[in-house]
Amino acid sequence: MNIEITRNPNPATPPVGDYGFGRIFTPHMFLMDYKDGQWQSPRIEPYGPFAMDPAAKVLHYGQEIFEGMKAYRNAADDTVHMFRPDKNIARFNISCERMCMPPVDEDMFAQALDLLIDVDRDWVPESPNALYIRPTMISTQVGLGVKASTEYVFYIIIGPAGSYFAGGINPLRLRVEEKYVRSAAGGTGFAKTGGNYSASLLPIQQAQAAGYDNIIWLDAKEMKYVEEMGAMNICFVYDDQVITAPPNLDHFAHGIGAGWLAHQTGRHGFAILIHIVQQCSCSINRVAFFIAGDCQDHRAIRGCFAHKINSGSSKGRDT
Ligand SMILES: Cc1ncc(COP(=O)(O)O)c(C=O)c1O
Repeated sequence: MNIEITRNPNPATPPVGDYGFGRIFTPHMFLMDYKDGQWQSPRIEPYGPFAMDPAAKVLHYGQEIFEGMKAYRNAADDTVHMFRPDKNIARFNISCERMCMPPVDEDMFAQALDLLIDVDRDWVPESPNALYIRPTMISTQVGLGVKASTEYVFYIIIGPAGSYFAGGINPLRLRVEEKYVRSAAGGTGFAKTGGNYSASLLPIQQAQAAGYDNIIWLDAKEMKYVEEMGAMNICFVYDDQVITAPPNLDHFAHGIGAGWLAHQTGRHGFAILIHIVQQCSCSINRVAFFIAGDCQDHRAIRGCFAHKINSGSSKGRDT
């Protein structure tokens, strides 16, 4: 694929300090258009806003998908490495299929990532920070008919990122969400599409107002089984087992981080049990938790708070 590069005439210099998450972007982005049944005009341009018709389908029906991935700088030899990009590329195309959008050729996708990161290579921060990568596809056809678009833009933006949660590496306080659900079987839970996340805003906001960092989603049918967190997977260490939710269900995101962590912990002597975790199936003092996902470091959890955990207490307790 021939990617045309237009250099930013006025590139900023990489900032130093606390990057936060998703606030800072590099001077360039990758773009490609889908028209007349094919992807065309792959290009790297200066980062900036693009014009969109107010009747573009994405603005009304949310036909959009994205991925979240990271690249790291290896201090030993100053090389830059992405974490399992092939998995994100594959998951992007799975999301495409569910949202009725045209897939992106995997090699083309990988080439676009490589080139964009190389153009803004100076922006890849030192560990423990990383370069956050956000490939996105939006439907741009003009028209209010509820129908899959015939036109799309695929773009990739990147930027240095630190911790997803404010407060550094402190353990988290999580509330088990018992009113709202993220997605039911047959829904779009496994696709990384914006609607799943906008539906989560209210319960997360309510949990934060009550002093929690985030929520744990339960299954939509019985409100009984632990599925994932707001934007990440959750793993349980129970005695010598690492337990995380099964990737064959279609109502939550199948984390690349969780899969990798489960594999790694397996190599360190834990049995890996990928299965449904029932709330309250074990007492909290025998369980350790951690979360996994591209957007945060792997973090310990300070407490799970819901009346079902901790045998009847409505407040829960710290572990
Ligand atoms: C809802 C949700 N669950 C889980 C994850 C973790 O996925 P991964 O490990 O592939 O980043 C994410 C990632 O952002 C997510 O948004």
